[in-house]
Amino acid sequence: MAALNPFVWDRPVDDPSKIVGMEPFAHEVALVLKGQTNVALFGARDTGKTTFTTQLALELAKDHGPDAPPFDVVRVNLQRVLSLPGFIGCVHDALTGHPDKRLRRAAQRQMSVLEKEIGFDIKLIKGGVRRTGITPAQDAETLHAQLVALRSVSDRLVVVFDEFQRLRRCPGEPLALIRSALMSTGAAHVSLLFTGSIRNALKMMLEDSEQPIFGEAAQMQLPVIDRVDFLEYLDFQFEATGRPAEEAALDHLLAVTGGHPRRTQQLAWEAWAASPRGGVDVETVIDCHERLVQSVERSEFSSAVQLLANGDEAEFNELRALQLLADRGGGNVTSRELAVLYGFSSHSRVPTALERLRGRGLVDQRADGWYVVDPLFGEWLARHSPLRDTPARGH
Ligand SMILES: Nc1ncnc2c1ncn2[C@@H]1O[C@H](COP(=O)(O)OP(=O)(O)O)[C@@H](O)[C@H]1O
Ligand SMILES: [Mg+2]
Repeated sequence: MAALNPFVWDRPVDDPSKIVGMEPFAHEVALVLKGQTNVALFGARDTGKTTFTTQLALELAKDHGPDAPPFDVVRVNLQRVLSLPGFIGCVHDALTGHPDKRLRRAAQRQMSVLEKEIGFDIKLIKGGVRRTGITPAQDAETLHAQLVALRSVSDRLVVVFDEFQRLRRCPGEPLALIRSALMSTGAAHVSLLFTGSIRNALKMMLEDSEQPIFGEAAQMQLPVIDRVDFLEYLDFQFEATGRPAEEAALDHLLAVTGGHPRRTQQLAWEAWAASPRGGVDVETVIDCHERLVQSVERSEFSSAVQLLANGDEAEFNELRALQLLADRGGGNVTSRELAVLYGFSSHSRVPTALERLRGRGLVDQRADGWYVVDPLFGEWLARHSPLRDTPARGH
C-alpha cells in the first residue's frame, strides 16, 4: 500500500472510514431527528462537529424501521456568515454543492422556480453585483423563499446549520425566518440540527424566551472519542501505511493530547512524517510534540493572550484564570490561595473570568472541572509560567 498520509487535521474528516468512534452517537441523534425533534449540538472548536455531521448523514440515510425511514440531509455551513445576503449565499452553496445528484437536481428545479418568482438570479447575491435599491426586507423575503424552496427538496429532510451561533449577530432576524420557513406547518417533514462551538451563545439562542426558536431543540453534547477507539485507529493507520508505531509511543501521544481530536491527528501526522522508515517511538513523539508546542508562539493563541494582557481589568482577570487553569488544572479553581497567587483581588472573580473565557471558546467545563480546550495551548501556557508547580519537563 502506498504511504499516503492517513491523518487528517486541517479540515473536517469526510472519509467515513476515517471517522473514529462516532457511530453510536450518530445513531442516537439520527433517531431523535427522525422522531421530529430538533437537536442543538455543542462541541468546542476542533473537536469534530462538522466531521460528525458526515457520520450523521450516513446514519440518517439508513432505514431504521417503519417509523424511521431514510432521511436526506442538507448541510449549511454558517461559519462565515455576517449578514442575510451571506446566509442566502451559504444556503445556495449547500444546495448546488450537494453530494447527492438527485437532491442537487431537485434543488436546481426549486431554485429556478424561486428565481422566476423573485425576478433575479440568486447567485448574483454572492457576486457583489450592484445592490442599489435592494432593501433589507427584500433580502429577508428572498431568504424566506429560499428556505421554503429548500424544504421542498425532499419528503424527509434534516437541515444542519453548522456553527449556528454565528447567526446571533446577523442582522435581519434570521432566526425568525428559519422558524417561519422550517419549523412551522408545512415543515413537519423537516428536522433541524444546530451545531455550535460557543456554548453560551448557542444556549442563549435556545433558552431566551425572547428568541424565536426558544425551547425548540433538545440540547446534546458531542461525546469525546473513546481512548481505546482512538488508540486502535492510530495503531492501524501507522501499521497500514508501513510505519508501525510502538505501543508506548501511541500511549504517550494520546496522553499529551488528552485525546483532543484535531491535536491527536496533527501530532500523529507529525510523528508519521518524521518516521519514513517506520518504527515510530516515544522519542519521536516527544520531539514532534515539542515542535508543535513551540508553534503555539506564532499562532492565534498567543495573539489571544496579548489581547487579554493589554485589555481592561476584566480581560486581565481572564488571563489570570487562563494561566491558573493551565498551571494547576481545573480541580480547585476557586481556592483563595490560588486566587491570591495569580493576582485576583478576590477569589469570587475567578468564575466570572472562566465564564468569559468559555465565551471565547478557549476553556470549557466537563464533569471533572474546567480545562483549557486546546492541549497544546495549555502546555505552552504552563511552560512559560513562573508559577507552575511541577518543574517543566527537562528537554
Ligand atoms: N470522529 C473523528 N475521528 C477522527 N478524527 C476526528 C474526528 N472528529 C474530528 N477529528 C479531527 O479533528 C479535526 C477537526 O474536526 P472538525 O470536524 O473540523 O471539528 P469542528 O467542526 O468541531 O471544529 C479533524 O480535522 C480531525 O483531525
Ligand atoms: Mg466545524
